Amino acid sequence: MDGLGSSSLSFIVVLVLVLNVALFCNGGKTSSFVRKAELGVDMPLSSDVFQVPPGYNAPQQVHITQGDHEGRGMIVSWVTMDEPGSNTVIYWSEKSTRRMKAEGQVYTYKFYDYTSGYIHHCTITNLKYNTKYYYVVGIGHTRRKFWFLTPPPVGPDAAYTFGIIGDLGQTYDSNLTLTHYERNFQQGKTVLFLGDLSYADRYANNDGVRWDTWGRFVERRVAYEPWIWTVGNHEIELNPILNIETTPFKPYTHRYHVPHEASSSIDPLWYSIKRASAYIIVLSSYSAFSPYSPQWLWLQLELQNVDRSQTPWLIVLMHAPLYNSYYDHYMEGEPMRVVFEPLFVQFKVDVVFSGHVHAYERSERVSNIAYNITNGDCTIKRDQSAPVYITIGDGGISKAWLPNYSAYREASFGHAIFDIKNRTHAYYSWHRNRHGYSEEADSMWFYNRYWYPFDDSTASIQSSM
Ligand SMILES: *[C@@H]1O[C@H](CO)[C@@H](O)[C@H](O)[C@H]1NC(C)=O
Ligand SMILES: *[C@@H]1O[C@H](CO)[C@@H](O)[C@H](O)[C@H]1NC(C)=O
Ligand SMILES: *[C@@H]1O[C@H](CO)[C@@H](O)[C@H](O)[C@H]1NC(C)=O
Ligand SMILES: *[C@@H]1O[C@H](CO)[C@@H](O)[C@H](O)[C@H]1NC(C)=O
Ligand SMILES: [Fe+2]
Repeated sequence: MDGLGSSSLSFIVVLVLVLNVALFCNGGKTSSFVRKAELGVDMPLSSDVFQVPPGYNAPQQVHITQGDHEGRGMIVSWVTMDEPGSNTVIYWSEKSTRRMKAEGQVYTYKFYDYTSGYIHHCTITNLKYNTKYYYVVGIGHTRRKFWFLTPPPVGPDAAYTFGIIGDLGQTYDSNLTLTHYERNFQQGKTVLFLGDLSYADRYANNDGVRWDTWGRFVERRVAYEPWIWTVGNHEIELNPILNIETTPFKPYTHRYHVPHEASSSIDPLWYSIKRASAYIIVLSSYSAFSPYSPQWLWLQLELQNVDRSQTPWLIVLMHAPLYNSYYDHYMEGEPMRVVFEPLFVQFKVDVVFSGHVHAYERSERVSNIAYNITNGDCTIKRDQSAPVYITIGDGGISKAWLPNYSAYREASFGHAIFDIKNRTHAYYSWHRNRHGYSEEADSMWFYNRYWYPFDDSTASIQSSM
């Protein structure tokens, strides 16, 4: 062998160029920004964010979520530690002095050697739209007052801003993510929470104290705006070693109530709500979803109920992503993708948000629904009827391969904002945590799949995808 001749050399140069162009055409962007390696250490129990409010039996861990299907209800929840105390929520509209009252119920649970405080859930109904309400929980000098804003009436052009957070936990980075979300000038009005809340299951015997600290940590935001809950794997807490704990999702379902009955769901792990111009479907990655399972049956009917002339924006939440090109949790969403993806395409879902993978990724609009065992057709194709898949797991570093459906990905912490302007346009942005401040690292104008189904791909060169 006498080495490469000049013609084969130039052939290789050309080939490399062609490959580069091909990658550029098909592929998205993998950001070179990687957050500095941190240990993901939980904030110690003595941290300021975990402080217990003063006074005997003072309500703590106050949180709210939507309490009905249309946005005129709110579930107010809180915990008292010393005794059951009052189940009453007093509330009034900013525009009125008339105090109103709602009665809730109190729950407790045991998990191995942990006994919960008294967990109160109280649903307020018949609220007026677009109104600021104050509310008070507790009695005597431990009364605590908060407020929230109700959404605009459900309708096709109701502008609304959602924040999106997943896999929060209670590390120093969690505090940074929450702080950046709070300071984001776009001001989210409701958070779509993508599962994995407290990570209490990382402690010996799944120490419930870490559920309490998490509740106190996020109160500063979730007492004032609803967070829409999705279940994650860290909520399962099925621990056969602690052989008396055989009920999955036990702490989560006691502490976080959702309005699943309002959408005819038999299980709080999957349900839907309408809020402004959005129809939000929450699914459970950790419940049965095969054909004829309860979740599958519910989703079939549910998608047929969505009226895009009333709620143009169809948003799906689930914990484990259906499209994920990181090694972490690679292909875990594949069984659900096989079952649910044809429905998402048929019903023109605008966007699917997931967490679980501790990194960020946004796909192009793609689908992979042609395969039927005999035809071998299992390629991922560009599809303007398909949703965009977005993974917002809070931080972590993992290696990745480079697929051509991925539009942007980055191994960083962050939060996102989905800002609905009207029935045709929504501005989406993802904000990484960087050196103590937050910066917009990825963004996209969403065109609504029902009202404005034009190509909204962000690829700089339109490829043959
Ligand atoms: C958490 O963040 C807030 C700022 O939003 C800060 O005041 C507080 O000291 C932080 N706590 C910890 C333990 O980092
Ligand atoms: C599988 O798909 C091919 C075309 O892609 C089609 O010709 C064939 O009939 C399908 N098989 C079944 C069982 O649906
Ligand atoms: C919808 O919002 C987009 C983005 O703000 C704007 O360009 C467009 O004109 C709006 N459409 C209507 C009908 O107002
Ligand atoms: C990705 O590239 C493969 C091979 O070039 C192609 O068959 C496939 O259609 C592409 N997929 C997308 C989503 O562009
Ligand atoms: Fe997870």
